[in-house]
Amino acid sequence: MPRTLITSAIPYINGIKHLGNLIGSQLPADLYARYRRAQGDEVLFLCATDEHGTPAELAAAKAGEPVADYCARMWAVQKDLADGFRLSFDHFGRSSSPQNHALTQHFAGRLDANGYIEERTERQVYSRADGRFLPDRYVEGTCPNCGYDRARGDQCENCTKQLDPTDLIDPRSAISGSTDLQVRDTKHLHLLQSKLRGELGDWIDAQDQWPVLTTSIAKKWLHDGDGLQDRGITRDLDWGIPVRRGPDPWPGMEGKVFYVWFDAPIEYIACAGEWAEANGLGEANWRRWWRTDEGADDVRYVQFMGKDNVPFHTLSFPATLIGSGEPWKRVDYLKSFNYLNYDGGQFSTSQGRGVFMDQALSILPADYWRWWLLSHCPESGDAEFTWDGFQAGVNKDLADVLGNFVSRVTKFCRAKFGESVPEGGEWGDAERALVDRLQGATAAYVRHMDAIEIRKAAAELRAIWVAGNEYLQAAAPWTTFKTDPQAAAMQIRLALNLVPFYAALSAPFVPDAARAMAGAMRLDATPWPDDVAGALTALPPGHAFDVPDVLFAKITDDQRAEWQDRFAGTRS
Ligand code: MF3
Ligand code: ZN
Repeated sequence: MPRTLITSAIPYINGIKHLGNLIGSQLPADLYARYRRAQGDEVLFLCATDEHGTPAELAAAKAGEPVADYCARMWAVQKDLADGFRLSFDHFGRSSSPQNHALTQHFAGRLDANGYIEERTERQVYSRADGRFLPDRYVEGTCPNCGYDRARGDQCENCTKQLDPTDLIDPRSAISGSTDLQVRDTKHLHLLQSKLRGELGDWIDAQDQWPVLTTSIAKKWLHDGDGLQDRGITRDLDWGIPVRRGPDPWPGMEGKVFYVWFDAPIEYIACAGEWAEANGLGEANWRRWWRTDEGADDVRYVQFMGKDNVPFHTLSFPATLIGSGEPWKRVDYLKSFNYLNYDGGQFSTSQGRGVFMDQALSILPADYWRWWLLSHCPESGDAEFTWDGFQAGVNKDLADVLGNFVSRVTKFCRAKFGESVPEGGEWGDAERALVDRLQGATAAYVRHMDAIEIRKAAAELRAIWVAGNEYLQAAAPWTTFKTDPQAAAMQIRLALNLVPFYAALSAPFVPDAARAMAGAMRLDATPWPDDVAGALTALPPGHAFDVPDVLFAKITDDQRAEWQDRFAGTRS
């Protein structure tokens, strides 16, 4: 059985994610996981919360909670929303897990033993008022690049330039606002990534099947120098993974923790350990997904993430894996995404702009969002969410095409033949033509899903739904029935068989509707229809069914206007 390991970039713990975050990694990863499972693969689909670093500490301080409590609470909130969107993780872990502590310390120890770590004394911002160092986002000030006056110590949100806290003009403490800052010496571990340039370059050059977006970012960072600079992997913070050399203390590093971007990707591995533990499985069970010497050379590993995450996954994390000198599995295919914008601007967590996952589910079920987001996902360039576009997409594709088909067919059958599949005669030319058309379209759909070309796959799926509608429109069993009830019965028999066929193909996109469709046809499962003609004769005459409730309600103009208004400002 083919095995596929799938990870989504792990979302920061601080706050509920917006729809731009969702379509940038978790949702497409779920689509692919569901598809691979339907193809019969053994799938391990992992995600987690990214809990360390200054964003978590600052958010906890703002909420007035100890950071560990804050993270535990927000993990549960994110887990609940992931369930609400039907994200089918095999495990939703936490980067603060004991497994990640041990593994992160293990990797640091290995990197050190192999000569990839150097202790350096650095100059860092120290706040006398706060009595501590102020790494990363603990310092705010004016961006030296664009002049934005609320730039953070790690990055300017306005121009996206990566910064160092000491670069900021007029710096102030993000904790107390104090400007009584000094630059003091402090010792930190640096990962000598530049030593791995050759090996990383060869590995990236060999990935000629990766999407252009991924390789272009990877190569830019590899060759422009910036990306492969040696980087500090420790911080003067309380919250995080204590710096140790494997299980041993690291003299001189007491009281320091690893930098969040060092431990976060290691959580992909640790999460498999958490999954095994949660399911009462032994160590070997997760190691066969991650250690190429213990079976993982058979695994195909696919990662999903937004474009801003690509450098960390093509350079830094592979540097950690290679530098360990141990046989860890590396990514086989890295799918990255552009940004989804919101109604003429950007989604913004810090400004509360856009629609957030909890808000989305409070107004419509998951499938509406899943379909629209996936069918408009920012693959080849940035995409935009507008309420008009959302209303049009949902109403046309889901209500008018898929939902209407199912409702028309089942209701017509109930009215004329009762609630079971009618017998009727043999297929004619129109039916054979439909099967041919669907055979071709299904093959194209599979090709796009295999290639993780999500927009193309969605368009092909829509075309498959449209084909059924067009057949029904042309066959017009409601007219046929008047002159030739036998022929009408045959047409309806075929149309009813399209319901489980659609359920199987649509399940990765709209899992709840797919389940409702299968349920209406009184089926527990809908196997993948490799052979279309076979699938369309699967429900025999006499098979009982139920007319399902409305699968998709249309979004009215009033609703659209109300939501547009409600989500126009910023979230408080
Ligand atoms: N939390 C990061 C973000 O949302 C992603 C971390 S992915 C990992 O951008 F690989 F580092 F875990
Ligand atoms: Zn800037």
